[in-house]
Amino acid sequence: MKDEQVRELLYQALETELGGVEVYTNALQCVENEELQEEWEKYLEQTQNHVQIMQDVLIKLGLDQNEETPGREVVRNIGEALVSSMQLALSEGDRGAAQLVAAEAVVLAETKDHQNWHLIGEVIKKAKGELAKTLKEAHDQVEDEEDEHLYHTKGWARELWIESLGMKAVLPPPEEVKEVETAIGAARAEQSRSQML
Ligand SMILES: [Fe+2]
Ligand SMILES: [Fe+2]
Repeated sequence: MKDEQVRELLYQALETELGGVEVYTNALQCVENEELQEEWEKYLEQTQNHVQIMQDVLIKLGLDQNEETPGREVVRNIGEALVSSMQLALSEGDRGAAQLVAAEAVVLAETKDHQNWHLIGEVIKKAKGELAKTLKEAHDQVEDEEDEHLYHTKGWARELWIESLGMKAVLPPPEEVKEVETAIGAARAEQSRSQML
């Protein structure tokens, strides 16, 4: 394994979580649906905890959490762009439209977040000693929450869009109702939506 690229992944993972806090804080200004608001409030709290967990990982591994890397700067830029997209939508005054923008922003942010933790899981399989132990402790606390963040919000984004198109939507989405935690579960939940209408 390439140590330097493992460090890059960990810095990007921290930056993604930091950006995630901003994304949820702004998404909560755009949200209209009360159940989705509750979900995102929970995810915001969990993401704040993930920031702490990643900071602890870096400290335990003797890495400077403020170290800049080119990849980290890219992640930060994308996070800032997601926040601007929500601010722009809000400034246009249509709350329903802003909620859709927010749901998509959360899906984009969580896609990266989910992949980071998946990759950390892959690193754990090959890592040894302190690195393996430190990453495993963090991964065990975070992994299931990331599945929920991504798959459930994808469901919300899809159903809110369908509702906005004037069609019957499943709200809360099947992914939420069926407590989906895997990609295959998400695919099954989406497939079952027509029976849930
Ligand atoms: Fe996270
Ligand atoms: Fe997340």
